[in-house]
Amino acid sequence: MSEHYSVMLKETIELLNINPKGVYVDGTLGRGGHSKSILNKLTTGSMICFDKDEDAINLSKDILVDYKEKIKFIHEDFIKAKEILNNEQIYEIDGFLLDLGVSSPQFDKGERGFSYRFDSRLDMRMDKRQKLTAYEVVNNYTFNQLVVMLLKYGEERNAKLIARGIEKQRLLKPIETTFELVDVIKKSLPNKVLSKKGHPAKQTFQAIRIEVNDELDCLDESILNLCSLLKVGGRGVIITFHSLEDRIVKNVFNKLSTAPFVNSKIPLLPSQMEQADYRVINKKPLTASKEELEVNNRSHSAKLRCIEKIRG
Ligand SMILES: C[S@@+](CC[C@H](N)C(=O)[O-])C[C@H]1O[C@@H](n2cnc3c(N)ncnc32)[C@H](O)[C@@H]1O
Repeated sequence: MSEHYSVMLKETIELLNINPKGVYVDGTLGRGGHSKSILNKLTTGSMICFDKDEDAINLSKDILVDYKEKIKFIHEDFIKAKEILNNEQIYEIDGFLLDLGVSSPQFDKGERGFSYRFDSRLDMRMDKRQKLTAYEVVNNYTFNQLVVMLLKYGEERNAKLIARGIEKQRLLKPIETTFELVDVIKKSLPNKVLSKKGHPAKQTFQAIRIEVNDELDCLDESILNLCSLLKVGGRGVIITFHSLEDRIVKNVFNKLSTAPFVNSKIPLLPSQMEQADYRVINKKPLTASKEELEVNNRSHSAKLRCIEKIRG
């Protein structure tokens, strides 16, 4: 297994401003790297950690065995965090972290089908309980559905060419593996596109992965839910890896930190004006330090945003 490197770990821990007696949620446990650093700062505090990948939960249970008194593992999507916490009579938390996207073990385990670097059956499910797989998307989506997905989630300029190539190939036989899909993509694109820097299947694989795992549709609702659980002074940190995710986080944080609109014709004293309940800690997203970029390639695309609950 590759060496584990938690992205922007130092920045995350500093920004969370951890209360040693607090309750923290990690919505994206992965291999528990960020969680371990949070746990190290807790005295009587505790953590509730979610991951929709059962392998991640099992691996982290082993890695974090020394902290088992302070941590609860939940194999679920973080969209359910508020409901699950409320069921446990937890109505307030001191902080949360979302380190979005795919983990290195998911990418590096060929059989999960996330990567165009390994030949494997088309899968890409983070949660193996769900029915929709990359195979279903590639072989059963209509031409129009494929084009929309490639444009929306892959920002793929050659969406139509690739969708047409997929359509043509599956008339002969289903596209079953990652390498078969890479071949179809390469055959669909003109040489001048293929000779450009970067892997020609990158955007398509990203789009299918986002579709299969429904990574963006519920993200704003999940963030709103987690922010609504924060105590006054509590903070949320979110790390994203592409512009589609970052845009959603930025918009939700802006909405939460903007005071409700008041018609300027209504005369109000400053003390009567409603204030926003949250403040954005870093207006511009933080990016990884030079030192981190030297040791972790994945950090290149990382953007970190932080929000604090200030009243309410
Ligand atoms: C980038 S990794 C997290 C790495 C982790 N911070 C660490 O230091 O080891 C993202 C993890 O979040 C999980 N994940 C992604 N979206 C999720 C969701 N909506 N609900 C629950 N888990 C999710 C993935 O399965 C993956 O294990």
